[in-house]
Amino acid sequence: MAKPTFTPAADSVRWNRYAGRDVIPLWVADMDFPSPPAVVAALQERITSGLFGYGQPWPSLIDTIITHCQRAYDWAIDSDWLVWLPGLVPGLHVACRAIEGDVFTATPVYPPFLTAPSCQRRHLLTLPLVQSGGGWCWDFAAADAIMKAARLFLLCHPHNPVGRAWREDELWQLAALAEKHDLVVCSDEIHCDLTLQGRHRPFATLSPEIAARTITLMAPSKTYNIAGLGCSFAIISDPILRQRFTAAMQGIVPHVNVLGLVACEAAYRDGEAWRQDLLTTLRSHAAKVERSINALPELSMHSVEASFLAWIDCREWGREHPAAEFEKAGVGLSNGRDFGPGTAYGQFVRLNFGTTTPLIDEALARIAHASQTG
Ligand SMILES: Cc1ncc(COP(=O)(O)O)c(C=O)c1O
Repeated sequence: MAKPTFTPAADSVRWNRYAGRDVIPLWVADMDFPSPPAVVAALQERITSGLFGYGQPWPSLIDTIITHCQRAYDWAIDSDWLVWLPGLVPGLHVACRAIEGDVFTATPVYPPFLTAPSCQRRHLLTLPLVQSGGGWCWDFAAADAIMKAARLFLLCHPHNPVGRAWREDELWQLAALAEKHDLVVCSDEIHCDLTLQGRHRPFATLSPEIAARTITLMAPSKTYNIAGLGCSFAIISDPILRQRFTAAMQGIVPHVNVLGLVACEAAYRDGEAWRQDLLTTLRSHAAKVERSINALPELSMHSVEASFLAWIDCREWGREHPAAEFEKAGVGLSNGRDFGPGTAYGQFVRLNFGTTTPLIDEALARIAHASQTG
């Protein structure tokens, strides 16, 4: 039995899926690292008040976000551009509600990109990313052909699950297509502070014209492991687009949890040293996972450029349900089938390496054993 080298939270969705079973849970995207001490201290202080009525973002929190955007991405944002949300996924739904017409996205992709459009009665147009030059890339000519029928482009930047941090030249090509076809771009940048090499370039910073058609979604939740506190925000510089977005929120999007707001401020203000340590661990886990997977003839993956998620290609293994086989072997991975239309990605799995090194080692040993003997 693989023992966690820490005590998971008793309410952890990820751990409880396999409660009582010897399965290492490396599926849903949260991590096994406690949040920065500064976040924990700020929450403790807030809790002592005993007052938890509806809260609203306060000046020092807003200043912290503005400073973070300036420091991390050289992006000068205005306080008016911020729209607070209890999660990124609600932001995707609101974008689909706000913009009438078909929605375009590239697959494989984080499953709510696939489900939000139909939930909001929008038609979804998908384009598969292609493998070229050692990584997952855009087929820009095919994107051009599909995008002309859409009104909204859901961009995942960095891209979950393929782990690409889109390069500036790629972003410019996407921006040119968005302009050519007059699309609103909703850029989900939730993983942006987990870029393992180099600096994140928010899509909206390409030019003022691009900013005017962009809804950027960000959150401290993935980076500082506070997803359960439900705090995120949209940055929308164009007042008309912002008004359309906030109008579409009416009646369905609640206030943000006050503890989430407190954690958000502490994370961005005081969490940088912790984040740097985290990135060191994640870089080492990413390298280890890539080495181990690519050493197996049946499995392969491209380098992870951002996040703590590895997208593993099991097609050479020739199994119909690789995720189920790995689960039997004691590793719970996300099933690739959920990341695209039909069964397009049924022979892929996604592995979350945001856990302790001993658990990664054990999971990789189980994966190797399953793929060679199973
Ligand atoms: C790309 C992406 N967007 C959004 C989310 C979830 O956002 P939230 O929990 O804030 O709704 C995730 C979670 O894994 C994600 O990977």
